[in-house]
Amino acid sequence: MLDIMVAVLSSLLTICIILSFSLPSDTQNINAFMEKHIVKEGAETNCNQTIKDRNIRFKNNCKFRNTFIHDTNGKKVKEMCAGIVKSTFVISKELLPLTDCLLMGRTARPPNCAYNQTRTTGVINITCENNYPVHFAGYKSSFCASYSPCALIVITVFLLSQLLLPAMR
Ligand SMILES: *[C@@H]1O[C@H](CO)[C@@H](O)[C@H](O)[C@H]1NC(C)=O
Ligand SMILES: *[C@@H]1O[C@H](CO)[C@@H](O)[C@H](O)[C@H]1NC(C)=O
Ligand SMILES: *[C@@H]1O[C@H](CO)[C@@H](O)[C@H](O)[C@H]1NC(C)=O
Repeated sequence: MLDIMVAVLSSLLTICIILSFSLPSDTQNINAFMEKHIVKEGAETNCNQTIKDRNIRFKNNCKFRNTFIHDTNGKKVKEMCAGIVKSTFVISKELLPLTDCLLMGRTARPPNCAYNQTRTTGVINITCENNYPVHFAGYKSSFCASYSPCALIVITVFLLSQLLLPAMR
């Protein structure tokens, strides 16, 4: 019984630890943020086409990575930033639908940048300033991405083990 609990706990912890943050971008105002990171909710986004159409690049090179948030008119990201004046990192309270674009070849030059894309969901980390999102700092995609549910699961398993163990003996 204890062995099982330990196994469950350690696998939960492993899931919590396997969290990945994407690379930061260099956005600095709301318009640039919308252009680089916001697409319609529910719609398919083609990275190749959207990045070309919006002329998203890194200096004169293809941008290595760009993440699109499916959030029509940036409604949710603007809600995240409401009331925040001083530059602050804000984490979303829920998982948001994302399309993550990763450059395929390093030799291509804009506008011919080819991307490998992934649909995912993630807890996003953005910088808010003067009530608006201005910078995308990354996202975490995992079952335990938003920490609190993860902590809750661990605590629940621990409490259950305390309740069940004496009964099993
Ligand atoms: C993006 O472009 C590359 C290279 O042309 C192609 O292999 C890939 O399938 C394209 N991706 C999509 C989603 O169209
Ligand atoms: C695209 O990404 C997927 C998932 O990360 C990977 O399995 C695949 O090999 C990649 N394809 C290319 C052409 O890089
Ligand atoms: C959000 O991103 C910033 C910049 O990378 C980082 O310093 C901060 O720790 C991140 N916030 C969380 C909760 O991970």
